[in-house]
Amino acid sequence: VGRLAAGVAHEVGNPLSGIMGYLSLARSEAKQNPKLLDYLGRIDAELLRIDGIVKSLLDLGRPAKMQPSVVDIARTVESCHLLLSKGKDFEGVELSLLIEPGLLVSADASALSQVFINLLLNAAQAMEAKGRITVRGTKEGSWAQIEVQDTGPGIPSEILPRIFDPFFTTKSAGRGTGLGLAVCQHLVAAMGGQLSAGNAEGGGALISMKLPAGYVTNPRP
Ligand SMILES: Nc1ncnc2c1ncn2[C@@H]1O[C@H](COP(=O)(O)OP(=O)(O)OP(=O)(O)O)[C@@H](O)[C@H]1O
Ligand SMILES: [Mg+2]
Repeated sequence: VGRLAAGVAHEVGNPLSGIMGYLSLARSEAKQNPKLLDYLGRIDAELLRIDGIVKSLLDLGRPAKMQPSVVDIARTVESCHLLLSKGKDFEGVELSLLIEPGLLVSADASALSQVFINLLLNAAQAMEAKGRITVRGTKEGSWAQIEVQDTGPGIPSEILPRIFDPFFTTKSAGRGTGLGLAVCQHLVAAMGGQLSAGNAEGGGALISMKLPAGYVTNPRP
């Protein structure tokens, strides 16, 4: 699947950049023609969607080159939430952070942010922009155990075995491509961790992630 994804992304990605280049030329030539400008703007929006899918496919296909560093979990979740919180999906969403103070993991900072952005977005979308997301984090031996729980409807048991499959989605066309969790699982595995999904006792979805704990090496006394 990874090699196919990378191949498709490459073959589609190159002509796509060409089209986007010509489109921007066309837009600058069409300034006097509002109707044409409107059409070109719509084409641009659709192309951006394709571009997003191609980028996710590249993430899936790439034997991810990770640059591990020591990452603070609470700060990462907070900055991902800040990025998303202005969006429509987060209008009535509250975030609770129950993360052991100073919890660190060994991870690639940008890949880990990408994972949290996907998980927070999934939670907010499942709750239809109203409810609470709770992120828990504890240290268990040499691992950090992280959970993202929401107050949405949960994941129906009949689809649980398929939600990590690339292109599996229950969202309407244009809302989801079904690549989010596939990319998350790929990235977490590349960081030496594990990602799994289930439901909380209260009902909502509960996504669990295990990552190698990070340690600050003490400076020489
Ligand atoms: N927090 C959640 N609560 C309920 N269902 C969920 C949750 N997270 C994921 N799912 C289910 O898993 C499916 C796959 O999720 P995934 O993130 O891979 O794709 P997507 O969100 O549909 O699209 P994309 O992430 O590409 O925009 C979703 O369509 C949804 O049915
Ligand atoms: Mg998603």
